[in-house]
Amino acid sequence: MDQHKEKSLANGSRNLADEDLTQAVLASFGDSKSERFRQVVQSLVGHLHAFVKDVELTEEEWFRSIDFLTRTGHITDNKPPELILPSDVLGVSMLVIEINNKKPPEATASTVFGPFFVENSPRFANGDDLANGASGEPCFIQGRVLSITGKPIPDARIDVWQADDQGFYDVQYKELSQSRSRGHLYSDAEGRYYFWSVRPEAYPIPGDGPVGELLDTANRSHMRPAHVHFMIKAPGYKTLITHVFKEGDQYLGSDAVFGVKSSLITSFERHEPGIALDGKQMDVPYYTMNYDFILVPAEERDSVQ
Ligand code: BEZ
Ligand code: FE
Repeated sequence: MDQHKEKSLANGSRNLADEDLTQAVLASFGDSKSERFRQVVQSLVGHLHAFVKDVELTEEEWFRSIDFLTRTGHITDNKPPELILPSDVLGVSMLVIEINNKKPPEATASTVFGPFFVENSPRFANGDDLANGASGEPCFIQGRVLSITGKPIPDARIDVWQADDQGFYDVQYKELSQSRSRGHLYSDAEGRYYFWSVRPEAYPIPGDGPVGELLDTANRSHMRPAHVHFMIKAPGYKTLITHVFKEGDQYLGSDAVFGVKSSLITSFERHEPGIALDGKQMDVPYYTMNYDFILVPAEERDSVQ
């Protein structure tokens, strides 16, 4: 290290520019209480400084970035909250999911959690109608919860949530206090689950805040292809957070949050009025969707739910 550099670093955080500044900031985290914290923050600082230098960020651009984050953070009364959306539209959410959910190809892929999950959704029994008045054509959804060796997993808790045929989740209807097309149920002794809901429709992610502006500036679509969200928990298995997407949806190739995986796409088959698979007399056309979820064993460090 040259004399000048040694002197400026020894001086702490005074009179620093460019590389010395980066080195001083990195060094300031050298004594962090947690090794993992040190590693993460030093890497973040290194990449942030390199990014600022790479694009030679102007002061105006920097102010606009801070304003973007401030406005995003201030939207706290929105349902869903805006703060998760930058991570989603920048692909960071999917990247974190990919890194943390490596599994054999036969296991069901994970995808984004999204902002529309609600804790303590109502409990249903297999065969029930979760729609509870949601707008849309009836859809019978069924499948099994299995291990990667094909063993049925009974008593798995299956949380379900989805948009209606207008592309809205129940929580987006301000006047609505009940759940619609949202609930949880348990797989039966053969690992089977089955319930009624409505066929979901594609929808735009919330676009009235800074993230909507970002997508517009980038000439990007706000749309997510139609899907049903599932979260499946079973003792001894890693919790699965995923969606099942509707085959043929026009937005499968341009999901605003990069969440689509081919293995998660399936057909929603249309049926004329008649007796449905569960024996229910249907006086209107209806759809069926069939999807098996394959869970991987919990890792040592995962707690059993
Ligand atoms: C969703 O699928 O519910 C969702 C995911 C990411 C951003 C917005 C919505
Ligand atoms: Fe969704």
